[in-house]
Amino acid sequence: MIICGYAVVIINEALAEWLRITPIHANEEYRMAFLKKNSMDKSWFEQHLRGVTVSLDTDDLQNYGTDWSKVRDPAPTAVLFPQHAEQVQQIVVCARKYGLALVPSGGRTGLSGGAIAADGELVLSLERMRALEPVCQADATIRVQAGVVTATVQQQAAAAGLFYGVDFAAAGSSQIGGNIATNAGGIRVLRYGLTRDQILGLEAVTGTGELLQLNHGLIKNATGYDLRHLLIGSEGTLAVITAATLKLWPHPGERQVLLLALDSHQALVPLFIAARQALALSAFEFFTHNCVRHVCAHAGLAPPLQQAAKLYVLLECDAIADDHAAEFFEQVFDQGLVSDGVISQSQQHAQQLWQYRERISESIADLRPYKNDIAVRIAAVPQLLQQLDELVRRYYPDFEVLWYGHIGDGNIHMNVLRPESMQAADFKRQCEQVNEQVFACIQQLGGSISAEHGVGLLKQPWLHYSRSGTEIELMRQIKSLLDPDGIMNPGKLLSS
Ligand code: MLT
Ligand code: ZN
Repeated sequence: MIICGYAVVIINEALAEWLRITPIHANEEYRMAFLKKNSMDKSWFEQHLRGVTVSLDTDDLQNYGTDWSKVRDPAPTAVLFPQHAEQVQQIVVCARKYGLALVPSGGRTGLSGGAIAADGELVLSLERMRALEPVCQADATIRVQAGVVTATVQQQAAAAGLFYGVDFAAAGSSQIGGNIATNAGGIRVLRYGLTRDQILGLEAVTGTGELLQLNHGLIKNATGYDLRHLLIGSEGTLAVITAATLKLWPHPGERQVLLLALDSHQALVPLFIAARQALALSAFEFFTHNCVRHVCAHAGLAPPLQQAAKLYVLLECDAIADDHAAEFFEQVFDQGLVSDGVISQSQQHAQQLWQYRERISESIADLRPYKNDIAVRIAAVPQLLQQLDELVRRYYPDFEVLWYGHIGDGNIHMNVLRPESMQAADFKRQCEQVNEQVFACIQQLGGSISAEHGVGLLKQPWLHYSRSGTEIELMRQIKSLLDPDGIMNPGKLLSS
């Protein structure tokens, strides 16, 4: 056994040497053949990564090598399941030594391919790092390991009479580490901010294997560069996030939901302004009627209103008296902003109304839509919608396009469905051509080509529409400092 292990080490010194002179991804097939020929099997990993669970099981490789975007077929070499930060350090040090690429992996609910391992990488799954400390009432914080599921944090906060501000449809599967790596947004950003705004402390292992403890849960800390914010949203390209101290909010208590019908997208921003003045808003979401059709068919729901509307707004606010809600409705009805609506009568009713918005994504997932996740300042939303409408009429005359999103923070999701008669490859090509026009509009309005789903693989070719050449070059330099060997999620966010 010892001789055998020794032989493996020698062979892999040669592998390391080859990899040192051969950039990762230069010749994937050759690399894979090399790994195979040199018996880099389960026992090799177990020997080099003591205590770390390793899987080379085909189902695990398929499952952990992909995310909800499914933009490429998974083909990782192995899946690693560390249980604490020191094991993550051990993995990074080993990956550096042997030139193996790592893909940090959370709940894999991402929609831009940021967690896909399609080129023989090692998937570093955080799912066994699921410890939570008790809520700290004095600081109103909770410290969790990266693999804790978002919904678990929400439940723990609620059990302590507090509230976690980030929420979205994938909260039951997504993990905190992944949320931080993509700076996840969701439905209540207008009141609570992004994931970035909840992170008071961050623990991470850099691409050099160093363990960082950042900001220590402090509210005030004016001591220079805040590296915490550099790692938030870096999509696993600089470091592996291993734990975080999360900010909790006072529990908002009962909330009311209004689902309103609109005849034109021009009414969206005036309605938002009116609602923000009259109500204590926590969400202001919109969706078109075809979204409602898909949700009803998928979830077996009846339509929310007797008459179908062109557009719907779902707004959530702190509980209000019935006559105040009716007064607000009358006001916006008289202003010609809404034509119909329904006001939640109980918490259960409020949850039912949320389904028309929250279940859109899952209702179209099987149709593999081409997804756009774009943002502009709220003031520029009417102009953006006008320009996109013109582009859709021109370039997608026969395609079904679903619009939904978070008007309260300027984030619009434009999902294009493939006509049945069209080949998937032709569809993708056409959508990518239209992207150039869409992103040119975004650029001209100073917007973002990826508001909350991240850049990953999917949006990487268009990054320059949102970030200047100077910014991208600085990002590269920062990456080379924290990940000098280019092993951290290569090809994601920045081209390799
Ligand atoms: C949503 O707002 O529903 C999510 O971002 C998912 C999606 O865009 O499909
Ligand atoms: Zn969204």
